[in-house]
Amino acid sequence: MKLSEPILTKRIPSIPHGDPKNRHIVSYDEFVKTDGYKGLEKALDMESAQVVAIVKDAILRGRGGAGFPAGLKWSFLAPEDGKGLRYLCINCDEAEPGTFKDRLLVDFDPHLVLEGIAIACWACKLDVAYFFIRGEYHHQARVMERAIQEAYAAGIFGKQGLMRGKSKHPVECYMHRSAGAYICGEETGLLEAIEGKRGWPRVKPPFPAVKGVFGRPTIVNNVETLAAVPDILLRGVAWWKSIGVESSFGGMPSYGTKLMGVSGHVARPGCFEAPLGIPLSTLVNEYCGGMRAGKKFKGAIAGGVSMGVLGTDQFDAAMDFDIGRRCDVLGLGTACPTIFDEETDMVAVARNCARFFMNESCGQCTPCREGSGWIYKLLTRIERGDATSADLDLLLELGGSMGLSEGTTICGLADGNNWLVRTIVNKFRSEFERRVKPKFIPVHLVAR
Ligand SMILES: Cc1cc2nc3c(=O)[nH]c(=O)nc-3n(C[C@H](O)[C@H](O)[C@H](O)COP(=O)(O)O)c2cc1C
Ligand code: SF4
Repeated sequence: MKLSEPILTKRIPSIPHGDPKNRHIVSYDEFVKTDGYKGLEKALDMESAQVVAIVKDAILRGRGGAGFPAGLKWSFLAPEDGKGLRYLCINCDEAEPGTFKDRLLVDFDPHLVLEGIAIACWACKLDVAYFFIRGEYHHQARVMERAIQEAYAAGIFGKQGLMRGKSKHPVECYMHRSAGAYICGEETGLLEAIEGKRGWPRVKPPFPAVKGVFGRPTIVNNVETLAAVPDILLRGVAWWKSIGVESSFGGMPSYGTKLMGVSGHVARPGCFEAPLGIPLSTLVNEYCGGMRAGKKFKGAIAGGVSMGVLGTDQFDAAMDFDIGRRCDVLGLGTACPTIFDEETDMVAVARNCARFFMNESCGQCTPCREGSGWIYKLLTRIERGDATSADLDLLLELGGSMGLSEGTTICGLADGNNWLVRTIVNKFRSEFERRVKPKFIPVHLVAR
């Protein structure tokens, strides 16, 4: 199931490894020579509403984690009211553990992302684009800053109107570097951060499309989502829909390719572009050279720790937006799996991930703030062999009670913690039980 023709990575000759500073970045001139900004040109020949209709028809599902269709989101934007600016916020926070896909586009083909940004701004009549980038992405921030300057110099952005005044609609594009916190990737935490405040998620509704950054209508999209837009416009909806898979439950399909960053116990970790629907085992065996040192597959974090884990019998799971329903995980997430071999201690994995959620909880909601600390303590106790089976039940109860889906928190960070804990304990229960059992045996029954 190799991809016949790369889309997002077509200007990136081979998936590279090593020091990103020594690799080639596609310049504005090179980008233009290889059909770059042709999608924007085509979009500007259309009415903006037509562009929204095309992206809606393509069912381009968001690549940031939730899989919400971009065109539908764009169509929810509050109508122009002449009362102020409207915004696009590009989410390049990419702080989900195990996720490294957006940085590939920024590292090597930043103009592809800028073209998607310009098209989105035209389609939705947005005035200002904020490129929100992860605090630790120092190199990527410099690359993108340079590309933004090149785009200004070429008249893509600026007062004269998009694409040297081809459209009278002017767009300004700014870089905003995050101070560095996972929660700033949550779309409303991101809006707060851009406003210069602490990245505390907001209660929704109102959704950003109605009341976003600076209280104005705002679209928040992931880098990879926007990077897919130029080719959809250039090559058409039918072409886009010929890649990927339909839903096996009669739901929303998974069209197009996806960047999949594979890490963990594989022979050749890396970020690969693959068609949606590819089985995880194929991704590992054909793209990553198989399991490391010929070991057996034990499990995987599905697509960022927030999605939970796949069990040993789920190696063939199809990587599409139905994976949540099919494999009892939260969803496809960022489609960046972390693979575990047979020697992995799943209790240690759970404890390590729980530490992440505890540290990154912003503290606004009691179940998340307090629960994440208790989950970490319980898992530490289980790992040390100091826990009883009552602690295991408490762990599941705690995890299962927190999150947006439970109606107990403001944002989805707590759902990530919930799914991680529940899926790892349920799918590797015997491993957890082995750690708590000894505490159960009454002292007088222990063989001497
Ligand atoms: C805790 C948390 C962290 C998130 N981090 C990111 C992130 O780093 N990048 C991203 O694109 N989306 C992230 N999201 C999802 C965003 O809230 C939002 O759904 C996404 O940026 C929308 O873009 P899309 O529709 O193009 O996928 C996160 C969500 C949560 C709950
Ligand atoms: S769920 Fe957690 S991270 Fe999200 S707003 Fe509440 S306390 Fe903050």
